Amino acid sequence: MPEKNKILITRNLPDDVIARACADYDAETNTDDAPYGADQMIGLCQGKDALLCTITNDVGADVIARLPDSIRAIATFSVGFEHIDLDAAKERNIVVTNTPGVLTEATADIALLCLLGAARRVTESQATLREGWTGWTPTQLMGIEVTGKRLGLVGMGDIGRATARRARAFGMDIHYHNRNRLDATLEDGAVFHERLEDLLANSDFLSLHCPLTPDTRHLLNAKTIDLLPDNAVVINTARGPVVDDEALITALKSGRVAAAGLDVFDGEPNINPGYFDCPTAFLLPHLGSATVETRTAMGMTALDNLDAFFAGTEPPNRIA
Ligand code: DGY
Repeated sequence: MPEKNKILITRNLPDDVIARACADYDAETNTDDAPYGADQMIGLCQGKDALLCTITNDVGADVIARLPDSIRAIATFSVGFEHIDLDAAKERNIVVTNTPGVLTEATADIALLCLLGAARRVTESQATLREGWTGWTPTQLMGIEVTGKRLGLVGMGDIGRATARRARAFGMDIHYHNRNRLDATLEDGAVFHERLEDLLANSDFLSLHCPLTPDTRHLLNAKTIDLLPDNAVVINTARGPVVDDEALITALKSGRVAAAGLDVFDGEPNINPGYFDCPTAFLLPHLGSATVETRTAMGMTALDNLDAFFAGTEPPNRIA
């Protein structure tokens, strides 16, 4: 029997994924799930053929430069790949893959949860119940109606469009800004704004669905927040650093932004403590893809990519 390829899996993954990985590979797993620092991960890569990592691993240029020559592929268990320096990987002839597609619907569900949670004042409602609710009143915890409002999407890729589909069912009008205008079928009646500034001015609700790049870092900042209509709600299920936290916290505290629904944070898990002083912030711990079905599909996709790589064929989700 030919020797199995050796892989390092940096975090604990759903059971079915681990079972398949261990059946098909000589896999070193991390069932304790303690996050590896860079040195530890590099050390564990010695003698491995591939690395199956997650967004919690720094695979920047410095780390890639120190990976052993045995590592020929990196499969990330994520659609986002800003934690990996693709150019550095290419330079070392390391193939890199991600897991697009399979997490679209689950992440769009969380975008809607953030939208509704922020609009309907769920943080304050939970506190009211836990601290001793004194009963229904006609004016208690009145939120913002979503029906008939404009939802502005920054980024109209798979997740942006899946969010739009859900929001249409709530009677929202969809606007978007994207690098390129989509064709009419994909647009499905959404209004395209070539300039981000124009989208912002037309967004009662603003939902971020762009990747984190040098161009999108702090895309939402004090200046761009000022372009939003009064009483706007901000939703972020993309990446934390797309938002300038200090600017958003200031806007939430002053009421310039009515509410925010946030699933991702700059520097997570160490989130800006200012958010905890904002009762109008509805906060989730990066749950976008966190369903059993989706996380299993992400793991299977990562393994499909590695299987293809080791079979000498093009991995379906190659990004470098
Ligand atoms: C991703 O895949 O990029 C998410 O942020 C984690 O599921």
